[in-house]
Amino acid sequence: MALRQCLDDVEASARQILPPFAIRYFSCGSDGEQTLADNINAFRRIRLRPRLMRDVSKRDTSTTILGQKVSFPIAISPTALHQWAHPDGEHATAKAAESMGTGMVLSMYSGSSLEEIADCAPSGLRWLHMDLLSNTDVMKYIINRAENKGYTGIFVTLDRPVASKKRAPNIVTKAYGRFPVSFGHFQGTDTPYKSSDKYTEHSDGINTWETIDWLQSITRLPIVAKGILTAEDAREAVKHGVSGILVSNHGGRQLDGVMATIDVLPEVAQAVKGTGVEIYLDGGVRLGTDVLKALALGAKAVFVGRPILWGLALDGECGVKRVLKILQEEFDIAMALTGCRSVEEINADLVQKGCTCVAKL
Ligand code: FNR
Repeated sequence: MALRQCLDDVEASARQILPPFAIRYFSCGSDGEQTLADNINAFRRIRLRPRLMRDVSKRDTSTTILGQKVSFPIAISPTALHQWAHPDGEHATAKAAESMGTGMVLSMYSGSSLEEIADCAPSGLRWLHMDLLSNTDVMKYIINRAENKGYTGIFVTLDRPVASKKRAPNIVTKAYGRFPVSFGHFQGTDTPYKSSDKYTEHSDGINTWETIDWLQSITRLPIVAKGILTAEDAREAVKHGVSGILVSNHGGRQLDGVMATIDVLPEVAQAVKGTGVEIYLDGGVRLGTDVLKALALGAKAVFVGRPILWGLALDGECGVKRVLKILQEEFDIAMALTGCRSVEEINADLVQKGCTCVAKL
């Protein structure tokens, strides 16, 4: 039987061709990188409880995110500077997502403007990523443009009131200057965020839940709160009218020492139960069984960050498609092997209750 490629293979191959500064920028976490490692290890600690002897000859991996159909419950997290992975940058990522029938959260720090990305993948499902800036005029300007170009939601990053400290940042800081990327959304604005070489502090920590109220008042688009890790903040987010919560620790790039996302997912899912707010997860998803575990523990869908960048580095649009196909195929096999014909059949009984992460279920 032919051995199938996995995401680890894609990453290993990408590391062979990328320059050191790009490898470091994409792969690093903050401080001691404890959370970075834990995101992946926590998935490995969870054991599955398959159900057998069900007819799984026909399976449907599709679901919806914010009411819109995706072919499988795996979408793309916002990551900056895709042009450091491949010259086609976010264009390639957006086209791959479109052709695979899933969605992409376009980073605020994209080398192409949100208009260019909408035009290059016109029938793609796309959401806008928004860091909370101190300049509300700029945020409003970008959101208005996103509404006009068919973006169907705003993923707001809540876990970056200030930038964290990364290990060995020098090669990356130097690369900001040597390989600058113009941030497309900001062209035509009078801001310091226009290019990666001027990109230092863009947020001053002043934002509060009232900022979410303000965002609700200026847009009709649904808002997804990205970065929530506790039941308390999940309830706060619901109070402030969000439509979705992305359980995330920024891929281990912000506060080091927080729990792995899969470990806090049950707490957050429990806190918002019955509210209609959708829960998603990112951080450490590398296998189809990781996707199944996340859905079993309360996520409606998962998002992936770094694997997309490795695929992009390897082979542009085709490389991103390959990454999404590997995950889709593995997820489909995981569904069959656990006796699930549809995502609705995936539930908490499929994971072992003794795992520390499901203690609260
Ligand atoms: C990120 N991430 C991120 N998140 C965010 O809210 N705003 C941002 O500007 C960025 N930028 C960024 C750059 C790079 C290079 C990486 C790798 C990640 C975090 C991202 O959205 C996501 O939460 C994690 O990447 C998910 O973890 P995995 O899939 O990379 O393990």
